[in-house]
Amino acid sequence: RRSILLLLLLATMPERRPFVRLPTDVFPVNYGLCLKPDLIDFTFEGKLEAAVEVTQPTNQIVMNCADIDIITASFVPEGGEEVNATGFNYQNEDEKVTLSFPSTLQKGSAILKIDFVGELNDKMKGFYRSKYASPSGEVRYAAVTQFEATDARRAFPCWDEPAIKATFDITLIVPKERVALSNMNVIDRKPYPEDAGLVEVKFATTPIMSTYLVAFVIGEYDFVEGQSSDGVLVRVYTPLGKAEQGKFALEVAIKTLPFYKDYFNVPYPLPKIDLIAIADFAAGAMENWGLVTYRETALLIDPKNSCSSSRQWVALVVGHELAHQWFGNLVTMEWWTHLWLNEGFASWIEYLCVDHCFPEYDIWTQFVSADYTRALELDALDNSHPIEVNVGHPSEVDEIFDAISYSKGASVIRMLHDYIGDQDFRKGMNAYLLKFQHKNASTEDLWDCLGQASGKPIAEVMSSWTQQMGFPIIVVDQEQVRDDRIIKLSQKKFCASGPHTAEECPSWMVPVSICTSDDPSHACHKVLLDGTDATITLNNVRPDQWVKINPGTVGFYRLQYSTSMLESLLPGVRDLSLPPVDRLGLQNDLFSLLHKQADMQEEKNRIERVLGAISAPDLIQKVLIFALSVRIPPLCRWIR
Ligand code: BES
Ligand code: ZN
Repeated sequence: RRSILLLLLLATMPERRPFVRLPTDVFPVNYGLCLKPDLIDFTFEGKLEAAVEVTQPTNQIVMNCADIDIITASFVPEGGEEVNATGFNYQNEDEKVTLSFPSTLQKGSAILKIDFVGELNDKMKGFYRSKYASPSGEVRYAAVTQFEATDARRAFPCWDEPAIKATFDITLIVPKERVALSNMNVIDRKPYPEDAGLVEVKFATTPIMSTYLVAFVIGEYDFVEGQSSDGVLVRVYTPLGKAEQGKFALEVAIKTLPFYKDYFNVPYPLPKIDLIAIADFAAGAMENWGLVTYRETALLIDPKNSCSSSRQWVALVVGHELAHQWFGNLVTMEWWTHLWLNEGFASWIEYLCVDHCFPEYDIWTQFVSADYTRALELDALDNSHPIEVNVGHPSEVDEIFDAISYSKGASVIRMLHDYIGDQDFRKGMNAYLLKFQHKNASTEDLWDCLGQASGKPIAEVMSSWTQQMGFPIIVVDQEQVRDDRIIKLSQKKFCASGPHTAEECPSWMVPVSICTSDDPSHACHKVLLDGTDATITLNNVRPDQWVKINPGTVGFYRLQYSTSMLESLLPGVRDLSLPPVDRLGLQNDLFSLLHKQADMQEEKNRIERVLGAISAPDLIQKVLIFALSVRIPPLCRWIR
């Protein structure tokens, strides 16, 4: 009976084709790819010679392909005769093409040859054109790529899934006065026989990698260069005449590479890394392996006219993308479902890296005031969603690049790092990177490695944060019994719309730390709150000492202190012995509780008052997010 119901349900639903991954009977080992862009007609010609393995006899090959015209395709089995494909069947909606062959392709190694043409589009995805002005004001175009998540298929037919890794040998045929870049270093550059104005630039073979990390750029650029202490050649490419503006990012990259090498205890595996500012760029930056692309405001610093917040932003973006060179590029998510981990992790470690390279920035305070509080605000709304979302069709991938993946993802990883402790965290990270390098991994694989390194129940703790939306509010009260302080904690879901009333209240496994006025910046007690309530006895805490929960504002939850506890904290707020991030957290929790208590009329008055005070844009945004449930658009966490 169930299947009849299912059929009925399907019949009444609007048609939505189920998404299926590519078949595995033919897979790539190496892509020999030659591209010849035409920067006047905005087209490109491509030649693919892919070394493939056939694991099961078949007479067709299914690949990803979008907005590309295949001219010819053939299959050459090792030691056998070339067979031409007799049909190219494009499934446009699925962004796939099926190549049909007149005879069965037998098990074994072979070369798949495809000649194709495409358009250098103006959609800022795939292989696209980017418009810029020469120093004299003349309009010119560069050809650049943006493949994540699923747009490599717009530049060449390929197996465009993160788990289908292969090596790449890339050749670009370009006007001889242009700069041509790709993931690897140039190994050969020679005149193109058919046109004296062109050169053929050949790049070294890449390590085994996913298609979304492939990149090429053809344009006019200046650069500044240096070498990191571990021998990696670093260049920052800028628009013509602006090389000076690349110096700050170069300094950041040169400091950052050894930081990650040391932190992960795994060297950067390529001989070079280029960072390049692209005039038309959809995202903020993209971590293509060895050739990181940035929008101009995320890379360039005018040494004479820039403020420290722009420098901090550039440092964070560079730190973020370079972290991906290990976490994402060397070890890659098995499927887009794990994208939050890729982005959440990089969005956390960028701060660790900037804090190491520029301690004077006090960057963690920025994390709390930007990512952490924003994630709490958004995730308290009824229309939030869990960090982990199942992703099927490629069209769903872009939707999950939002502040929940980035800012809540980063916040829960920060909490996890604090719960595990830096030493064991690094041990687990190193084990994870070594075990899965040049391969793919899932969120659970990381939890396993961190669990083994720390002996703590990481998978259990983390699933409560990633698989359900929202977070708890912890209600705290205390009692003095002789020389001991008894702390009572209880958790329930925090909702911006008012108290959580549903019968089933979700609960979290919350790592809670506690400090006292004796040492406000260090936890004197740590406990894992794994049920609704807990009672903790702190020995030897005098009646005149205050007790605070969540030192460093690291835990992803809100606190509601009893009136007496809150009052006891006030001296610490006044004499500033409570660190800035703690005061920030306290203020933010109180502000959010005020929201909960305000009725709609008060809320309306507040909006009017705040909107009137144009000088407080930050407050306006806070109130708007709350009152109107505005969803922050995906991409570019901060619009700059
Ligand atoms: N991998 C992303 C870029 C990306 C996001 C590509 C979505 C395609 C779709 C990159 O690492 C990233 O996170 N970029 C951020 C900037 C970063 C500093 C947070 C962005 O583009 O907003
Ligand atoms: Zn990222």
